[in-house]
Amino acid sequence: MTTKVTRAVGVDIGGTGIKGALVDLEAGGLLSERVKVPTPHGAEPDDVLAAVRVVLATLGVTDADIPLGVAFPAIVKHGKTLSAANVADTWIGFDAEHFFEQGLGREIHFANDADVAGVAEARFGAARNVEGLVLLTTLGTGIGSAMLHNGQLIPNSELGHLPRPNRSTDFEAWAAYSVVEREELSWKKWAHRLQEYYSYLEFLLSPDLFIVGGGISKSADQYLPLLELRTPIVPAVHRNNAGIIGAAALAVA
Ligand code: BGC
Repeated sequence: MTTKVTRAVGVDIGGTGIKGALVDLEAGGLLSERVKVPTPHGAEPDDVLAAVRVVLATLGVTDADIPLGVAFPAIVKHGKTLSAANVADTWIGFDAEHFFEQGLGREIHFANDADVAGVAEARFGAARNVEGLVLLTTLGTGIGSAMLHNGQLIPNSELGHLPRPNRSTDFEAWAAYSVVEREELSWKKWAHRLQEYYSYLEFLLSPDLFIVGGGISKSADQYLPLLELRTPIVPAVHRNNAGIIGAAALAVA
């Protein structure tokens, strides 16, 4: 008889912070405190691995008995990271899943950070039982995206890197929350940029629902009401914990 796995650890590696917690896979919530350390400057693989070790040691979950999911801010295909927008270029074409497994001495499940947030919201949050196309975007250091169709993830969509029509930058470089901090934009000015971004996504993909994740989703009432879209737009139920919860959930999928 096999026993059902009801707990797993999720680690969400971001451009600014690395967060982790023990997750209840039935309720879709955190069972432990949320541990966060800064992403090491330059985000080279060895330094990121050392930081992940600190998160696991602080959580007291260094043994391999509890499944571990790790989310990363890059395209992830067959365990390899294929891009590096907010981490060191070393990650491009890097066998990251194998690297973490060797370094941590255990198996892990490895996926894109926005994709796992999408999985968390599909199982336990705003995308649950939603039919059609759901686009989750994370607004943080970068802009990540998860595309879900009838609850099924279409991975590595990278919609933050869509080029702005007739401009030289992509949307991430112009509308991510890190840009708001850097340029000290007001909510209104940021909402203006988000309006352009979400209108463009709406035109291209005709989604049924937008979900906004990332750390700043906790202040959604400051900027989401300023947007005028045909598509409903809501904050992620699990806010910035969606990445941790989704990473953990995928570890036992
Ligand atoms: C990366 C994505 C990631 C997003 C959020 C982007 O720059 O290309 O893979 O999901 O940042 O971290």
